[in-house]
Amino acid sequence: MAFKKMGDYLIERQACDAQMIHAAIEQQTTLKNEGIYKPIGQILIESGNLNPRDLELILRHQIEDILRSVDLFKSLSPELISKIAGVAECMAFPKGEIIIHEGDQGDSFYQVISGLIRVFHVSEDGVEVTLNTLGPGESFGEMALLTGEPRSASVDIQEAGSLLIISKPAFDQLVSEMPEFSLVLSKILSNRLHRGTSKIVRASATEKAYQRFVSEQSSGFEAKLVGRSKAIKQLQDRVAEVSENDGAALILGESGTEKDDVAGLIHLSSNRKDGPFLTVDIKSVNMGRTLDRSGSPDPIRLELAQDSTLFGHVKGALPFAPERRLGLFQVGDGGTVVIENVEYLSANIQRQLVDFIQHGRFLPLGGQSSILSSIRIIATSSVDLEKEVQINGFNKQLFDLLGGGNPLMVPPLRKRKKDLRQLTEYLLELYSEQVGKSITGIDVDVYKSIMAYDWPGNTDELKAVIRRAVNLTQSSRLTPEDILIGMAPQVAGGLSFNLLKLDRIRQLFLSSAFPNVAQLIAGLFFVLIICLGFWGSQKLGSNISLELTWGLWEPLVIISCILAARIWCAVCPVGALSSLISHKYGLKRNIPSFIRSYGGYLAAVGLGLVFLSEVVFNMPASPRATAMLILSIFLPAVVLALIYRRRIWCRFLCPLGKLVGFLSRCSPVELRANYNICNNDCKDHSCYVGNDFRTGCPVFEAPFVLHNNQECILCGDCIKSCPNQSPVLNLRAPGQELWTFRKPDSIMALLGPLIMGTQFFRGLVKTGYFHPYITTLNQQWIFYSLFMVITIFLAFLFVRMTSNVVFDTAKTTPQERSSFLSYSFVPLIVGFELGFHFERLIGLGGRLLPTLGGYFGLDWDFLVVSMGPGLIKVHQIVFVLIGVLASRAVLLRLLRHRHHAPLKRLSLRQTWPIMLLGASDILMFWAG
Ligand code: CMP
Repeated sequence: MAFKKMGDYLIERQACDAQMIHAAIEQQTTLKNEGIYKPIGQILIESGNLNPRDLELILRHQIEDILRSVDLFKSLSPELISKIAGVAECMAFPKGEIIIHEGDQGDSFYQVISGLIRVFHVSEDGVEVTLNTLGPGESFGEMALLTGEPRSASVDIQEAGSLLIISKPAFDQLVSEMPEFSLVLSKILSNRLHRGTSKIVRASATEKAYQRFVSEQSSGFEAKLVGRSKAIKQLQDRVAEVSENDGAALILGESGTEKDDVAGLIHLSSNRKDGPFLTVDIKSVNMGRTLDRSGSPDPIRLELAQDSTLFGHVKGALPFAPERRLGLFQVGDGGTVVIENVEYLSANIQRQLVDFIQHGRFLPLGGQSSILSSIRIIATSSVDLEKEVQINGFNKQLFDLLGGGNPLMVPPLRKRKKDLRQLTEYLLELYSEQVGKSITGIDVDVYKSIMAYDWPGNTDELKAVIRRAVNLTQSSRLTPEDILIGMAPQVAGGLSFNLLKLDRIRQLFLSSAFPNVAQLIAGLFFVLIICLGFWGSQKLGSNISLELTWGLWEPLVIISCILAARIWCAVCPVGALSSLISHKYGLKRNIPSFIRSYGGYLAAVGLGLVFLSEVVFNMPASPRATAMLILSIFLPAVVLALIYRRRIWCRFLCPLGKLVGFLSRCSPVELRANYNICNNDCKDHSCYVGNDFRTGCPVFEAPFVLHNNQECILCGDCIKSCPNQSPVLNLRAPGQELWTFRKPDSIMALLGPLIMGTQFFRGLVKTGYFHPYITTLNQQWIFYSLFMVITIFLAFLFVRMTSNVVFDTAKTTPQERSSFLSYSFVPLIVGFELGFHFERLIGLGGRLLPTLGGYFGLDWDFLVVSMGPGLIKVHQIVFVLIGVLASRAVLLRLLRHRHHAPLKRLSLRQTWPIMLLGASDILMFWAG
């Protein structure tokens, strides 16, 4: 509806001319641009072009005209209209001005003449909702006047304009005196009521539609308990039993077991199956920063986060989450909500949960009124919740309400190995379909390795392994090379810095010269040793190959393990040659399962033989024997490279590689990968399978399952091939992996005692006690062999027996205990090797220059680097003592980590094996 404009009235009544009005309109526009609103009449009066009395008369006239054309008043008599015009006031309002504040007392009634107004309401949680927009001819503000209640809504100006205002007394008089006026008001109110109702209906329908959407979104999941074992059948029976009632339930099981699937099954078999199924992991619920300044969890913030996640919050309830949030209990109405890791709920929220389970209503954080909701709660936990009640004060009432007395127990995968085959087949089919591959078979060896592993990460770990295998495989069958078993360490990070962030180091690893140039130099070095060994002088002090090999190379390799893990293996020419031959001329066969299964044992035997032959052939004094030893390592490596893929020798069989890998566990350097990038972003795993330019990890390792330094040779191949820059070269606490591992490696229980045994052997031989007897023997090698077998046997016995004393026999298997102790012995073993090779470094290496001078007929004896035997012993003892201290530190951390015990220091019972081994090392060096 449009009313006649003020200008028209002015011209009609000849109060001003069109030019004046134009000028006034222009001025009004200019003022408007400056943010000032002035009505035309006022501008004309101020400019002296209009008489105020004329304006008053004209306005009254205008108001009468307006009233006559508005529905509300048009049926009234001219006298009445004139009466109302006498009490009404016309006012102009700029955009944004608030005319009515919700909750105020009503004092006027309004009629819109021009512009646009908005009626709005601010909800309990602070959301502004527009109820309506009204234009010329429409009225508002009658409700508070009629009912005496406060204003039902707020009103502001959307588009600048004028309003006709009738004060409350005048309005009351009109209502009481004119039944027609009341009638029209009732019409307006009925209309509003009708429109309001339709809006409410539409809003409820939308809410219901949202809920349906949530239900549909959560109903697409598949939950299945695969297996035929007794344990799984019992669980299926329990699921069926629990699904029949609607009470809260508790599911317990180690982490990675299918607790979610069990909850899903209960939901799908219950009569809530069409409702939403929502899960929340309380352990990872947070809201921005959840740590306080000291770095420990901020309990108040965590509790608020949990509160808001489950129950929601109203707008402004949380300073760090300004918008309103619906809680799971509101969204999931009619369905099931799974609360994972329920023991992480704060005490307060536990109480609120008890209340919700009992009464079915909850109060959103900061809310005024409680909300009714029908939810079935299923809680899951990886800990013994009953113990939590007794020790950590978990709410007993909540425990009982969840059915804690009779929870559903999901068995760990290692206790239902019978199901592994079926589970693997099921997952293989599932993931093959997902990625669109047709993988029909699985090699027997794959099953063997799956069966042999204990799956500490349970079904989740198996799923990750099979999913990855499906991605990796390039054939229609899964082979052992596709199955990469292994998990990230439990404690990630700690003190660590990625060295690849340093430009120079990254460039070094990315450059094609690394490790090729170093390999070439090392290759020439070995050729020289072999040539000198076979064709050079066999006299000690006249053939530099001895000083170079035993005095320099070997000690430097040992030192390199401590400083930079297995970096020597990246440089080793045996590996380089293997790669070259395999790539250019090899048959590239897959690794035989025998080598996969028993390679570690063969390498261990080889290591024993190397140490034995060193003594039997007195290698540090025999150039030919030294050359033979090097050749005997090259030859099998070359033969294997001709047949098999990549560096099979380095990965599975090289004795020195096993020693270097073992010692490297102490290193402050590690190559790892960002597990999240590898598992979520990477689809081609080129670090492992290779790409157009690279063949993939030469030692069949994959950074994404790497959790120790034993096998990685730091060749940087993965750094070059990964498009996601996932590999990292961490500087870490030295030897960190010795206590942060998830599951002990079986190779540790083998290599630890074996190397220790060879150390007894080498140390005792060095003392020279047996020398007088041995020289009388014809077959000295038999004596040495027997002697070594005995020392190794004793070392195994020592580790096995002492590990029973140090570790809790009830919680660990003998094999695990031996491994644990081997882990803690690593620094001490390293200490012995340092001491042993230090003597050679000084004794033999120190003579390098005089021997070199001999080749040129020069007497360079003055260039000898030497140290008195006493001082060498002091050094050796210091190395062992450092080893003892480091081993104790590792053992302490390991015990803390494994048993989650706040152990302050080690008891004598726990520490004596280390002390005894340290003492025997010191004795051997002292007497040597
Ligand atoms: P009152 O409650 O006095 O003050 C606010 C006014 O807004 C109210 O009277 C009505 O005139 C008007 N109002 C309230 N709700 C609506 C609505 N849904 N649609 C249009 N106008 C409304």
